[in-house]
Amino acid sequence: MTKRVAILISGGGSNMVALAKSMTGEHPARPVLVLANSADAGGLAKAADLGIATAVVDHRPFGKDRAAFEAEMSKTLAAHSPDIICLAGFMRVLSGGFVNQWQGGMLNIHPSLLPKYKGLNTHARAIEAGDVEAGCSVHQVTAVLDDGPILGQARVPVLAGDTPQTLAERILPLEHQLYPAVLRRFAVGDRAIVNLP
Ligand code: GRF
Repeated sequence: MTKRVAILISGGGSNMVALAKSMTGEHPARPVLVLANSADAGGLAKAADLGIATAVVDHRPFGKDRAAFEAEMSKTLAAHSPDIICLAGFMRVLSGGFVNQWQGGMLNIHPSLLPKYKGLNTHARAIEAGDVEAGCSVHQVTAVLDDGPILGQARVPVLAGDTPQTLAERILPLEHQLYPAVLRRFAVGDRAIVNLP
């Protein structure tokens, strides 16, 4: 059975576009919803252009009431019956209660070679540490931030003179390859780790 995929975004949505465009033909999944936590998320228009249903659950009116924000997201998601949730540049921390609702069916892409550099400013931290390589990881989401089983990684060398921006520009195209490659496998229950290049 074709898997139904909801993609959660906060920003430009380039990973969302890569995921959505990959889900055609023989692919075992299809995008059914792009959900953003802000109406300003640039990816919403791109999703609509791709013919994907979109929704916004703005976190701001909920203030510190994370449970109420998540309940509203759950309601919106449930209306589209997703089997898999892909976080793609979604910049809100999710509680264990919310994550556990999806019973291991939630994925995230993080711009570091996890378990290194959970959280923010990953590229700056890799450069600062003198790392010789950097990259990105796709992992299953658990209640712990940027934790959970790693399903794929892509690596690039850190070059002399790299800045967080040049490193990000080198890694982002790999994110666009890695995430679809992992999702394609995950949708048929294959949890073997994808390594790029
Ligand atoms: C990506 O670098 C992703 O790894 C990180 O946020 C960025 C999102 O970019 N979590 P986009 O919205 O997919 O273009």
